[in-house]
Amino acid sequence: MKKSLTILAIESSCDETSAAVVQDGKVKSNIIASQALKLHAQYGGVVPEVAAREHVSAIIPTIELALTGAKIQKSDLDYIAVTKGPGLATSLMVGIDTAKALGLALGIPVLPTNHLEGHIYANFVRKFQITNSKIQIFPALILTVSGGHTLLVEMSRKAGSGSAGKKPHTFRIIGQTVDDAAGEAFDKVARMLGLGYPGGLQLSLLARKGNPNKFKLPRPMINSGNFQFSFSGLKTAVLYTVQKIARSSKMLDKKTKADLAASVQQAIIDVLISKLDKAIQQYRPKTIMLGGGVAANELLRSEFEKLAKKHKLKSSIPALEYCTDNAAMIGLAAYYKIKSGKTRNQNFQAEPNLGLHH
Ligand code: KG4
Ligand code: ZN
Repeated sequence: MKKSLTILAIESSCDETSAAVVQDGKVKSNIIASQALKLHAQYGGVVPEVAAREHVSAIIPTIELALTGAKIQKSDLDYIAVTKGPGLATSLMVGIDTAKALGLALGIPVLPTNHLEGHIYANFVRKFQITNSKIQIFPALILTVSGGHTLLVEMSRKAGSGSAGKKPHTFRIIGQTVDDAAGEAFDKVARMLGLGYPGGLQLSLLARKGNPNKFKLPRPMINSGNFQFSFSGLKTAVLYTVQKIARSSKMLDKKTKADLAASVQQAIIDVLISKLDKAIQQYRPKTIMLGGGVAANELLRSEFEKLAKKHKLKSSIPALEYCTDNAAMIGLAAYYKIKSGKTRNQNFQAEPNLGLHH
């Protein structure tokens, strides 16, 4: 019988401590210990020192849970995959140091993994028909939106010889934000409205009760003719609106807040969907995929589906637990690297500003 390929994945780039077991490309366990509500909510954002300290105390129990959840012994592991960046330096280091120590103790390679690639591979949890050769998925266009990045990426398979399954994937950024990330815009507006942290989810829940056409907010760069994004002006526009309401001595009451939440959510998603629409027309992908924490947004998910239907494209949206930060996506990114032969055990450090490049 063919021996299985078992990976322990570790993710600690921001404020979730996560560990997962991925075996033969299937997620066996995915444990996520979030610090958000317990710790950072009181400060209205992630405090790096607090995050790192919390990772230190959570990481070993999280790994143990991932192993027992997957019914895997440490001795069954073939690789350890860990997020190398981008992220908070001190948070990344906790995951990396733990992975290196464990790798050394077990005598197995530790694979540095790109967090941005992870968000893309969240689409491969159910293999996304990747093994079904009848369905062509590449080139794929992927919209990755989270608190730290907003990227439009074209994913393909490297041309050349070798069997299809072994050719490495390639990534090309075709557009990204020139200032704030989409998730950052959600979080900052949520903060202005006093919705607490993490704001994206709270804002989208409030938006359900609001009128998205109540406030006329800008759609920055929507007709810029390229695939760049900008969200900081939108945040300023909301700030002016809030100040204007305050000056008119009207209350920022619940209904007004809900209308503002719905209007800003609509503006952000209009821009994301419009750019993706134009990118589809230009790049003619076979499939489209979504990724990152903002992919958990219900309006974005439904608009994305509608767009796929309009273009008669196959589409993939990760289940909620694979949208926000998690280790399973890191394990999957590593799995496809291993399959393409990129498994060199190398010395590496945290790279807080790591980009997406191939
Ligand atoms: O991918 P992620 O967990 O971390 C980064 O890599 O940044 O993304 C977190 C971001 C936050 O900005 C959060 O507010 C946003 O994802 N987010 C949402 C929703 N759930 C999380 N934004 C809008 N609607 C949501 N339902
Ligand atoms: Zn992330």
